[in-house]
Amino acid sequence: MRPQITVLDAGGQYCHLIARRVRDLGVYAEVAPSETPAHALQGSRGLIISGGPSSVYEPGSPTIDPAILHTITPVLGICYGQQLMAHALGGDVRKGDKGEYGFAQFDIIHNDSLLRGIHGRQQVWMSHRDSVERTPAGFTVLGYTEHCEIAGMADPQRKLYAIQFHPEVVHTPCGNTILENFVFGICDCRRDWDAAGQILSVEEQIRETARDRNVFFFVSGGVDSTVAYTLCLRALGPERVMGVYVDTGLMREGETEFVRQQFSALGARNLRIEDARDRFLTALAGATDPEQKRHIIGEAFVDVQDHVLEQFLDGQWILGQGTIYPDTIESGGSAKADLIKTHHNRVAGIQRLISEGRLVEPLASFYKDEVRAIGRQLGVSRELLERHPFPGPGLAIRCLCSTGGRKPERTDDGWILPVQSVGVQGDSRTYRAALALEDFPASDNEAPRLINSLEGVNRVTVRVWSAAPLAEMGSFYATLSVERLDRLRRADAIVRRLSHESGFDATIWQFPVVLIPFGTPDRPDSVVLRPIDSVDGMTAQAVGMPRELLDRITSELAAEPGIGGVFYDLTNKPPATIEWE
Ligand code: XMP
Repeated sequence: MRPQITVLDAGGQYCHLIARRVRDLGVYAEVAPSETPAHALQGSRGLIISGGPSSVYEPGSPTIDPAILHTITPVLGICYGQQLMAHALGGDVRKGDKGEYGFAQFDIIHNDSLLRGIHGRQQVWMSHRDSVERTPAGFTVLGYTEHCEIAGMADPQRKLYAIQFHPEVVHTPCGNTILENFVFGICDCRRDWDAAGQILSVEEQIRETARDRNVFFFVSGGVDSTVAYTLCLRALGPERVMGVYVDTGLMREGETEFVRQQFSALGARNLRIEDARDRFLTALAGATDPEQKRHIIGEAFVDVQDHVLEQFLDGQWILGQGTIYPDTIESGGSAKADLIKTHHNRVAGIQRLISEGRLVEPLASFYKDEVRAIGRQLGVSRELLERHPFPGPGLAIRCLCSTGGRKPERTDDGWILPVQSVGVQGDSRTYRAALALEDFPASDNEAPRLINSLEGVNRVTVRVWSAAPLAEMGSFYATLSVERLDRLRRADAIVRRLSHESGFDATIWQFPVVLIPFGTPDRPDSVVLRPIDSVDGMTAQAVGMPRELLDRITSELAAEPGIGGVFYDLTNKPPATIEWE
């Protein structure tokens, strides 16, 4: 399909969100690099230039082909997109040092075309350092906020529009109306998109790509690979589709059985379980550094995949993958998970198959929500479609290791635990200690305040229960042993069962359960509970849970051998990451 709206990616973390919002309006949109030449964009009815972290004055910052501003195709610049538009047309952009981040009140001056139907003062979401100081000739100012005099501008004659705030995020309640005004009112787009309505044509494409060859998949029990597999099953019939599930020994309790049962319910006849537990656990023995663990797991995956691929490289088989749209785009986007996945779906053996035309990726033009809609239509179970995201390297990254021998340190604010974990500040990774408080703080601001005031700390937790006073506990030498992985697997199963039974899991985005090497000699590990809410995993908020549920989880965990404490993580992302590793 040809996109009616093309979003030009200037490196913003919200770039895909813009395209998703347009698709939610029923209009097919795609993302393209910001520099795409005007002639390559001719089929689009409208262009949107996304936000981005750069300054128009920085050498090497994303640019646009200025010719796109001189055609009859309407253009909407958002955030950095507004600054690029002003800069390209002779306006002035002022370099800011402090910037404006978060909620702002937008006072509207002109509410025709782009702002049609929106009046007075509106809440909007701002995230910018630079701002437009003088509009280019021909533009009028649409509105302002306290810190931004030109929060929107337009030249309706030339069909050029721009806003400094982000209409695509939920924190801008009038944002959807603005996008609707642009897409329908200004660009005159037709409704042409409904993901689930694409199923038959996707199946046709699968048959065309496969011709008389069969398809095999590495399945993980995740949403994407399962839906992609199901599309192939329908397109080619069960005899021609094979699934290989790699049991790494790093999976959650009951996972292999769950996958077997789900695939059988979908009508799969050829699902093979590749038992690679020894391969992974042997390679990981003795590793304590989180990056080293990831590296070892990545290599082992490649080995096992290559080994399996070799058996299918006989011309009769092609490879199917559940790659989704954001994974196919190598933008300057900051999504770490995208990079990891791109990496995963593009290892050497797979690159070879791509170059030989032996790869089928039925979901390559869909977003996650659209994949779910397709899955629902195909009869994939709700249980599977609504699963929380789970990292590819599995429990290994949630099982923290240590060289041990250290005690917690008492401070005025709480205990600094002798356990370090990964965090993220700006675009940089941190590796710092966690603070443990004795009680839940009265205010949500307490955790951010403590992290800002304590050097060397990137997380704040609460001690919910421990087998001994914290002063008597310590860290122990700990690796990824079968015993510790089993301990984490049991703890994770307890938390999952209780949060599912109580309905809590349906209210949150993800719930990592983490094992840290901190406890007493008899009970050398503790469990950290990390329920979070998020939209896409790039930022996240820590979530509280009902006291009764926390008490039940804690009493079951405390009854487990080897577990000496239960902690609750109160930290948002940033400054912490979602996963502890
Ligand atoms: P962080 O910890 O970076 O996680 O805040 C963001 C989201 O990404 C998931 N994650 C991964 N997913 N392979 C994946 O497929 C990985 O290696 C990986 N590491 C983290 C994490 O669970 C969260 O949803």
